[in-house]
Amino acid sequence: MSLPIDKQTLTKYDVAGPRYTSYPTAPEWSKEIRVQTYIDKLKDFGQNDKTLSLYIHIPFCESLCYFCACNKVIRANEESVGDEFLTHLFKEMEMVAAHIGPRKMIRQLHWGGGTPTYLSEAQIQRLFAKIQSLFDVDFDGEIAIEVDPRTVPYNKLKLLRDIGFNRISLGVQDFDDKVMDDINRIQPFSQVKQITEWCRELQYASINFDVVYGLPYQTSETFKKTIDAVISLLPDRIAMYSFAYVPWLSKPQNKFNLEAIALHEEKLDIFIQSRNNLLEHGYQAIAMDHFALKTDGMAKAFNEGCLHRNFMGYTLKPADEFIGLGPSAIGFVENTYIQNVKVLPEYYALLSENTLPVERGKILTQDDRIRQWVINHLMCQFEVDKDEFFKTFGFEFEDYFMEESSHLRNCVEDGLIREDYKAIKVTDLGRIFVRNVCMGFDWYLRQKDGHKRFSRTV
Ligand SMILES: C[S@@+](CC[C@H](N)C(=O)[O-])C[C@H]1O[C@@H](n2cnc3c(N)ncnc32)[C@H](O)[C@@H]1O
Ligand code: SF4
Repeated sequence: MSLPIDKQTLTKYDVAGPRYTSYPTAPEWSKEIRVQTYIDKLKDFGQNDKTLSLYIHIPFCESLCYFCACNKVIRANEESVGDEFLTHLFKEMEMVAAHIGPRKMIRQLHWGGGTPTYLSEAQIQRLFAKIQSLFDVDFDGEIAIEVDPRTVPYNKLKLLRDIGFNRISLGVQDFDDKVMDDINRIQPFSQVKQITEWCRELQYASINFDVVYGLPYQTSETFKKTIDAVISLLPDRIAMYSFAYVPWLSKPQNKFNLEAIALHEEKLDIFIQSRNNLLEHGYQAIAMDHFALKTDGMAKAFNEGCLHRNFMGYTLKPADEFIGLGPSAIGFVENTYIQNVKVLPEYYALLSENTLPVERGKILTQDDRIRQWVINHLMCQFEVDKDEFFKTFGFEFEDYFMEESSHLRNCVEDGLIREDYKAIKVTDLGRIFVRNVCMGFDWYLRQKDGHKRFSRTV
């Protein structure tokens, strides 16, 4: 299905904008949030029978990919690095569990990074055992891990499957030699193919590939070959991320030759061509930048309007509350965002003093929660049902969002949404620019020129 995108629409909407993995977005969180606030929220959580999503951030990677904007620490692979990390992580986990009190059921567990498989097999076993000593793990839930195909041998994949991981995500990025060379990531197709086959043999319920469009030296031709190669391996899910060029945050990105980076129209061409290619080969577009085989649970959940989203990405089985452990990890407990310190020595130092390593956070106001609800519905279901809004919050949608009416009119005129008295529905074109539709509901963005701190929306 080809999409009618004219230059005017593109120029208008290809502005810097948040990805809305949270609302309010992280720049609005405050360092004023004290450790005590987190402790109080954990205690509140202990008083009810809500379930838990647990994210663990393992920051190490063996080598640096120059494009990467994740929170990572580059270290040669040594057992002692992981051991020192686990000592502190375990302390954090014990403190969090003690503040909660009663044992909680983990419905969704996600190890991300960095590269979680930096840990040795013995360390992986110790970490999983530690989690089970403090929490109950629902093995029918989503137990997922991010894996770097360059550094994971068969035995480690088998161990992960044996202890209960059922979802795996491979950082593929691209298959083109020049592109990969420029981002300092040598990772031949044969290696990814081998890992994918092993994952199938081990019966992981779902295999995801991360690919990134807009990297230096990518062109429509090279990325078409990459997507063809991805399709040949038939991963259940594909996250196709827009390259976040944020050199003020990720210094190694300054190494890139600016002229080699596709911008605006060219980048959008790459995206649309890839999207069409995937749609023609049995994938369904899920929300913004995710694709899933039509047979995959994610596609079904999306079609049934029951897909959810949090920092770990899209999920079918959301838990009630969300805790993040490890440097930079984010949680959302009892209506409060909490983020840990990002710098590893700081994380270690605070835990050595028996202090939870909180850096910043945000207690949501009622207006925040209302806008969060709308943005989540737009991002996950591409639809806001005005009746449901009324039933949830007791306000008429039109009354509450009077100031947003001109933004919505613009979006209708540009073909991004359709609106009637019952609902707002995001069109096919609007799905590409859904971040821009959401930006109109972002109260904080409107208060100031906040665009500069984000990567571009396309
Ligand atoms: C933690 S990594 C994945 C696991 C593992 N470290 C690896 O690279 O294989 C998370 C993903 O974030 C994406 N990512 C990192 N930096 C990005 C950037 N600047 N723009 C867009 N996506 C990015 C990549 O696709 C990467 O696979
Ligand atoms: S892309 Fe993955 S392996 Fe590369 S630096 Fe980032 S987190 Fe590490």
